Amino acid sequence: MAIKIGILTGGGDCPGLNPVIRAVVRKGANEGYEIIGIKNGWKGLVELDTQPLNIETVSGILPKGGTILGTSRTNPYKKEGDLQKLKDNYKKLGLDALIAVGGEDTLGVAAKLVKDNIANVIGVPKTIDNDLSATDYTFGFDTAINIAMECIDRLHTTAESHHRIIVVEIMGRHAGWIAVEAGIAGGADMILIPEIPIDIDEVCAAIEKRHSRGKIFSIIVVAEGAQFKKGAAVLQEQNLDAFGHVRLGGIGEALAKEIEKKTGYETRVSVLGHIQRGGTPTAFDRILGTRFGVKAIELVKDKKYGRMVALAGAKIIDVPIEEAVRVLKTVDMDLYDVAKVFFK
Ligand code: F6P
Repeated sequence: MAIKIGILTGGGDCPGLNPVIRAVVRKGANEGYEIIGIKNGWKGLVELDTQPLNIETVSGILPKGGTILGTSRTNPYKKEGDLQKLKDNYKKLGLDALIAVGGEDTLGVAAKLVKDNIANVIGVPKTIDNDLSATDYTFGFDTAINIAMECIDRLHTTAESHHRIIVVEIMGRHAGWIAVEAGIAGGADMILIPEIPIDIDEVCAAIEKRHSRGKIFSIIVVAEGAQFKKGAAVLQEQNLDAFGHVRLGGIGEALAKEIEKKTGYETRVSVLGHIQRGGTPTAFDRILGTRFGVKAIELVKDKKYGRMVALAGAKIIDVPIEEAVRVLKTVDMDLYDVAKVFFK
């Protein structure tokens, strides 16, 4: 009987998920494995919602953003009875292994399922936030920074024409990776990240300094998770999702108000939001997703359950899943020092 492997994508979507699915199916087919698509993350395993995957069904998905399997932020450890349903369905489907493609939440569940001896899971790291430890990069990030960079370029020309300050709010949750890399690439005049509390006087002083040397416009990049030195995070809403996350956003608006109040310069805000997560993946993300998918099947072949594929330098390696979710990978301060050179 053919080895049966399930694959699911959980958490926020990102460009590069479809290249992983395609690679898993194609490499799996070469090995003679049967691949079953689990719909909408862990929800599909709780509700037994699946779709067959084969060479025909994954044809043409490589350049497509999002995930053909759908996704959700369902946590099977959250609601009573869900874990039992997941266990039963894993057996009912006759799965030999499960490939879970996700960020810290989805992989956190994957690590628990392995520890609790419920499923043979292989992890594949994804997120635009690039905040997973044990891998140099997650796919989705490169696409996100390229989109954000293009937006910053566009905002530059209008900010300059109107002699305005434009605050650009960027995603990334509690890590400032997207803000820092898109900000460096886009030539931001200031980049504010969750790792360093915002000193509003410093921000305004930098803007004034630019004005004094004739630059009467500025682009200020702020990560959605950034906070003022004094005061709590600015939240859009107080409700928590199944993994206990609040929905971030609003710091851009708050910051713009403060800048305008303190400097008197006209200040506008642009919130990039989900634009950073949509659309076709870059070549880097297509290749990384493809390499991760192929490696995931190799790990199944070697029965290396509880492991996650990862990028170390230019090499694809495997690491324990828990290593990726234990601590949040925050911005490298050497990189931030590079960004800071241009804040003056
Ligand atoms: O984790 C990816 C991410 O896009 C974060 O950068 C952002 O805070 C969050 O997801 C938004 O989640 P949702 O799509 O559920 O609003």
